[in-house]
Amino acid sequence: MCEKCKGNFYITTPIYYPSSKLHIGHTYCTVATDAMARYKRLQGYNVMFLTGTDEHGQKIEDKARESGVTPQEFVDNIVMGERGVLDLWKLMNISNDRFIRTTDDYHVESIQKIFKMMYDNGDIYKGTYKGKYCKPCESFWTESQLVDGKCPDCGREVQDAEEEAYFFRLSKYADRVQDLLENTDFLEPRSRVNEMVNNFIKPGLEDLCVSRTSFTWGVPVDFDPGHVVYVWIDALFNYMTALGYQNDRHNELSQFWPADVHFVGKEIVRFHSIIWPAMLMSLNLPLPKKVFGHGWLLLDGGKMSKSKGNVVDPYILAERFGVDALRFFLLRSFPFGSDGNFSNEVLISTINTDLANDLGNLVSRTIAMAQKYFGEHLPAQQAENPEMDAELLAMVSDLRGKYEEQMEHFAFQNALAEIFKVISRANKYIDENAPWVLAKSEENKPRLAKVLYNLLETIRICAGLLKPFMPDTADEIGRRLGNPRMDWDSLGIFGVLPAEAAPVAGPVLFPRIDMEKELKELEELTKPQKTEPELPLAEAKPDIAFDEFEKVDMTVVKVLTCEKVKKSEKLLKFTLDDGTGEPRTILSGIAKYYQPEQLVGKTLVAVTNLAPRKMMGQLSCGMLLSAERGDQLHLLMLDDAIPAGSRLV
Ligand code: MSP
Repeated sequence: MCEKCKGNFYITTPIYYPSSKLHIGHTYCTVATDAMARYKRLQGYNVMFLTGTDEHGQKIEDKARESGVTPQEFVDNIVMGERGVLDLWKLMNISNDRFIRTTDDYHVESIQKIFKMMYDNGDIYKGTYKGKYCKPCESFWTESQLVDGKCPDCGREVQDAEEEAYFFRLSKYADRVQDLLENTDFLEPRSRVNEMVNNFIKPGLEDLCVSRTSFTWGVPVDFDPGHVVYVWIDALFNYMTALGYQNDRHNELSQFWPADVHFVGKEIVRFHSIIWPAMLMSLNLPLPKKVFGHGWLLLDGGKMSKSKGNVVDPYILAERFGVDALRFFLLRSFPFGSDGNFSNEVLISTINTDLANDLGNLVSRTIAMAQKYFGEHLPAQQAENPEMDAELLAMVSDLRGKYEEQMEHFAFQNALAEIFKVISRANKYIDENAPWVLAKSEENKPRLAKVLYNLLETIRICAGLLKPFMPDTADEIGRRLGNPRMDWDSLGIFGVLPAEAAPVAGPVLFPRIDMEKELKELEELTKPQKTEPELPLAEAKPDIAFDEFEKVDMTVVKVLTCEKVKKSEKLLKFTLDDGTGEPRTILSGIAKYYQPEQLVGKTLVAVTNLAPRKMMGQLSCGMLLSAERGDQLHLLMLDDAIPAGSRLV
């Protein structure tokens, strides 16, 4: 640790699933962590801020297959591709010191060693996983994952099944974990403790299934091929492997472990406050000092999710309103520990009220007056008026303490509220002292100078404390004040700015936004893309034996002639070359989909051993195969190079 440092501080965000692009909800937690990391650096701590991506698991494997790429290519694109995770953190000015990907070699090796260590100490054992199995999807499900008793993916019937799997003795640690939750400050906010204890521990903690054999995109259990490590073991240990636990890629474990705080969303508190400490106990490792479960950003009262199509794109918001305004809005508008309802209206009105009106105006009015009345710099001769100044000065002098108290409890909203109370008070101070009146007489110039000095000094302290939230804005304000000290110590003292301060003006920091116009434009921009309506799936038929299927003759045929059947709206009459030398006639009810002339010469597939039947007085010998979904129908057309009479096998 360096001489001047206050100590080390290790803070983490959850590592993100790169199964789709990140939305404003993901951005929320990372911005909060960034603000905390910057605050701790400002205080003088030696900070390690870790974030990353959690890249294994069945979902990623499935998505990659759907996209026709390998799982590695799939995650690489979302993590490193254009507008991917790394781009987003760069745009949002995230100051992470390290970025871990669970597909990084060193992490994979460490996880294999960790799994083996828990196996060797007896806390991981081989058992049988009992559950429900969906044969077509090749997936295991637990009873609670089923939807109406059927496979949640395809809706088909599931069967009872058993699979060999490894288990972690979570039950063994139930008492110790309960004690940790109830009798220490390990988990915050406190309300989450009751939720964990009452919903998960008291009903009885069961051992946890920690390996899978139904997919391969994961860390292989090296001593038992075919098994991959459960993603949550893989994911949770990132907090330590990223520091060098069980690998020699990094070497900061003794410096930064145990972590000071893991920030996590409320739905993953269970993993972090029950499973994570239990696994660390199993390996006799020190526990993180704190897990803080934050609330969700909701949209219309519900969770944002890609599948609901209601995600908000942080790129659009940052590009339209600016990164600092977006960062500020996220932490100013919602209490970190509870849910908050996101809306464009709240976003715009927060920017207009706090940033354009209060902060922006204070900075531009004060600097404009200083320049107008004194030119290059304030005069050294300044006159106090204790009665007029006392309240503002007291508030500014107390600000750092109040802010610190809130920040230490991760109460970002309250910390910002303290700053904005001072900013409002400073705006009121301008009106009370009416510098434009003081400027009218030479005699009042020393008083005018002091009023402006007090305002500039207030701005310096507020900007310094805003820096963790709005780093670029704070730097810009610092530049306009003539680059005064803005270090932590200086933010606790009123009067650090030199008396002969020489502020410089600049463009409007936060232009006012026309709410109505902006809302309309945003609505246009974020309108969900028109997608094809979901077509209903026909019900699957019962299974048949292979020898039954084999009885069907499917033959390649060429269309010789095709015409409409008189008096029928539906039927087309085909004469077909089926390779036998004798033309075959088939009637097919597809007139609404095709014009007869379109089909002449095409190569199609017909079932040719179907018993002939009469339709509209004409004999049809067979059936043409087509694909149908909803109200769409397509004849199966083959490459014209395939000769008539070929059999489909
Ligand atoms: N990969 C796991 C975390 C493993 S940590 C060892 C995961 N990833 S995630 O991408 O699904 O979510 C990452 C974080 O984003 C979670 O903390 C989650 O709560 C947070 N958010 C996702 N949507 C959110 C909101 N709408 N609002 C706030 N945070 C939300 O879970």
